[in-house]
Amino acid sequence: MFTIITGAQFGDEGKGKVVDLMAGDYNIVARFQGGDNAGHTVKVKDEIYKLHLIPSGFLLDSRVLIGPGTVLNPEIMVEEIRMLEEAGVKVSAEKLGIDGKTSIIMPYHIELDGLREATRSEKIGTTKRGIGFAYIDKIARDEVHFSDLVDEKRLMQRLSDIAPQKEEEIKAIGGDPSIVTESSLVDRYISLGRELAPYIADVSYEINKSLDEGKSVLAEGAQGSHLDVIHGTQKFVTSSSTIAGSACANLGVGPTRVNEVLAIVKAYITRVGAGPLPTEQEGDAGQHLHDVGHEFGTTTGRSRRCGWFDMPLAKKSVYLNGYTSAALTKLDVLTGLDPVKICVGYELDGKVIDYPPEDTSQLARCVPVYEEMEGWDADLTSVVGYEDLPQKARVYVERLEKLMGIPVKYISVGPGREQTFMK
Ligand code: IMP
Ligand code: MG
Repeated sequence: MFTIITGAQFGDEGKGKVVDLMAGDYNIVARFQGGDNAGHTVKVKDEIYKLHLIPSGFLLDSRVLIGPGTVLNPEIMVEEIRMLEEAGVKVSAEKLGIDGKTSIIMPYHIELDGLREATRSEKIGTTKRGIGFAYIDKIARDEVHFSDLVDEKRLMQRLSDIAPQKEEEIKAIGGDPSIVTESSLVDRYISLGRELAPYIADVSYEINKSLDEGKSVLAEGAQGSHLDVIHGTQKFVTSSSTIAGSACANLGVGPTRVNEVLAIVKAYITRVGAGPLPTEQEGDAGQHLHDVGHEFGTTTGRSRRCGWFDMPLAKKSVYLNGYTSAALTKLDVLTGLDPVKICVGYELDGKVIDYPPEDTSQLARCVPVYEEMEGWDADLTSVVGYEDLPQKARVYVERLEKLMGIPVKYISVGPGREQTFMK
């Protein structure tokens, strides 16, 4: 069984919570793209875990893998391992594997990310984690691999080859080039490499072998479909491919092996950072979604922009990912709003359309066309089954299902493990 999970919106749909819930049924959970720009909040009993890199399935028995299509900041990795160990979760080479071809985020990538964002006249609002610059080096074949990091000699050789070019780049953008070879940083990376060495793995081989043996594998995406570097709302996107097909390409698993593709979709929409968000609400409804939904970024603490459910964007996600079903999260946050609105189309240049225009600047000009639904007042946070939802909430869920054209399989009404149920 091979299942892929991706965010259907702009990230922060609650993937971490759903993966944590499902991971119990999977032998392997694998991250396939992105880096520590991601943030997963997983609540187990009264403990809240904030993870950026380690797949959410970590808290259960599955083996967790970091695929070669991710970009890895070893400092963050070691920090997360330590945090989990302090919380009593044992981390071992049986539990965690990191592919040898994974690109390493170097201190100069983080420096370049910050410098570049500062010079942009129109900001993207990156997380300043060096993600984009680590991917640039991967494509340019100037990256440091995880296999280099764990071998001091190889790391030094690699750095001496890359350094002159990186120093020029940093100088050209107004930064201090000494960060590239600064000895305290290099020493730190050598020691991080030593610490992480036991985890080196061949992720594609492991996953394929496990599937051959009848085991089950869950591929966990980061960010969301509309932040995809190819199909998202450029330039306001992240630097990796976030859609389901990317799981196959980045983990080295053929598309014929995929059994299930699950959308994680919030009952409304949020976005952190710049870029179009047609249904954004700046008035009372937006404030309600923000406050009740605690919509702050896990990684940057920034306030998330909030709006009504955007069906044209959801339909595009269904196409981009080929979803077989969805998990609808944060339905409880809509309690108290009346009416509840669904954006079913956009008005653009005098025409009504039901699918987003391909061009981002056109999307930014789209004016939402709403369908209004009756709201409900009941607190949903202790609901444990579909039949216990107020009738109006069920009508809302079923309307979303119908318009998206995929069944809703899970519904969540709060951050706890016990607050997600099957429909
Ligand atoms: P980067 O990934 O740091 O380069 O940031 C590019 C854009 O993606 C910015 O708008 C970020 O706010 C957004 N972004 C990156 N990671 C996440 C995430 O995990 N959730 C939501 N937005 C994200
Ligand atoms: Mg997040």
